[in-house]
Amino acid sequence: MSDFSNETPKLSADEKLNLLVEFGARISCELRLDKLLDIIAQQITHMLDVGRCTIYLKDAERNELWSKIAQGRGLEHTEIRVPLDGETVTSIVARTGQTINLADAYEDKRFSMAVDMVTDFRTHTLLAVPLKNNSGKVLGVFQVANKADGSPFDKKDEGILLLLATLAASSIEIAKLYQDVHVAQLETIYRLAVTAEYRDQQDTRAHLKNISIISYLLALALGMSKKEAELIKNASPLHDIGKVALADNILLKPGRLTPEEFEIMKSHTIYGGRILEGAHSKVLQVAHKMSLYHHEKWNGTGYPKGLQGEDIPLEARIITVADVFDALCVSRVYKKAWKTDDAYLYILGESGKAFDPRIVAAFKKIYSSVRKLYLNQTPQAKTPAPAPAAARKQTV
Ligand SMILES: [Fe+2]
Ligand SMILES: [Fe+2]
Repeated sequence: MSDFSNETPKLSADEKLNLLVEFGARISCELRLDKLLDIIAQQITHMLDVGRCTIYLKDAERNELWSKIAQGRGLEHTEIRVPLDGETVTSIVARTGQTINLADAYEDKRFSMAVDMVTDFRTHTLLAVPLKNNSGKVLGVFQVANKADGSPFDKKDEGILLLLATLAASSIEIAKLYQDVHVAQLETIYRLAVTAEYRDQQDTRAHLKNISIISYLLALALGMSKKEAELIKNASPLHDIGKVALADNILLKPGRLTPEEFEIMKSHTIYGGRILEGAHSKVLQVAHKMSLYHHEKWNGTGYPKGLQGEDIPLEARIITVADVFDALCVSRVYKKAWKTDDAYLYILGESGKAFDPRIVAAFKKIYSSVRKLYLNQTPQAKTPAPAPAAARKQTV
């Protein structure tokens, strides 16, 4: 990324042309909406040499315009929302699709001082153009304020800003669609996971939230990239998806399972593996490994395959620690909640037995954060923790 600042010298025509080319190249390969808007705002700030650039996007559901980035003093990553049917510059440009250029903002009744009042920025000149897609539909507004040389915005500036808006529109539309699909995918995964855990746990949401956070922290502590850690976090709620195939008399049995019943219970790993087998998306591929192998143990005494050591996929070794820890810390009809520190000691004690020592070491690193996570949500046991054997069912 180029290094932009408000003190950049005035650009020559050649430099502007180069920036336009760079602008097109940069935005065409960015799919993350926040990042994309950030890049666009930085480029516009630089090319027009302005004190502030704000990109507003329409939120049709709420009938508002919002901006998460606003380059310039005092507004970085502040969310601003304005009503679409308002009478200020941004709303009017979004509604009419017309450019508004103010040589003296404070003298124009269409200018709202609301944002200036909560920042240390004083708008003098303002230029706002519509952001339209290929079919002419207004997606939002590009707004710049205060040219560095103090002069008002001219026709050339209007042309450049409109050109940049045109260049950016399809990238913004694609990034928005991509974001919508991503959110829909995560929501579907989460709802599926709730379905799987719903029958035998009242606190499904807390369990899924806790294990996804712990898995994420573990992945980062193991040196995985943020992207890989996100994948693990998003896949983790599906580890017990195979439970949907278990009959009520097994899954909901209040007492201890017979050896035969326990064998059936164990098959939820196989069912989970079958449900997620052959998935195309990366997140479901990770979830497949987790659901099939989350009861394998480092020393080879787990199920369904009795895999040992690094033959167990890393993703499964991570979710195992998160799942067991959370299961220990909550109360069930057959057991009280363990104190988090007792559960922590249990995890440490199982290093090299049930759990990969490397992951236990990572758990040690993140434990202070994990402890805080449970501080306000889990009723702590008043009686001594039961022996690990009594926790048989919670690791299922
Ligand atoms: Fe679980
Ligand atoms: Fe399980």
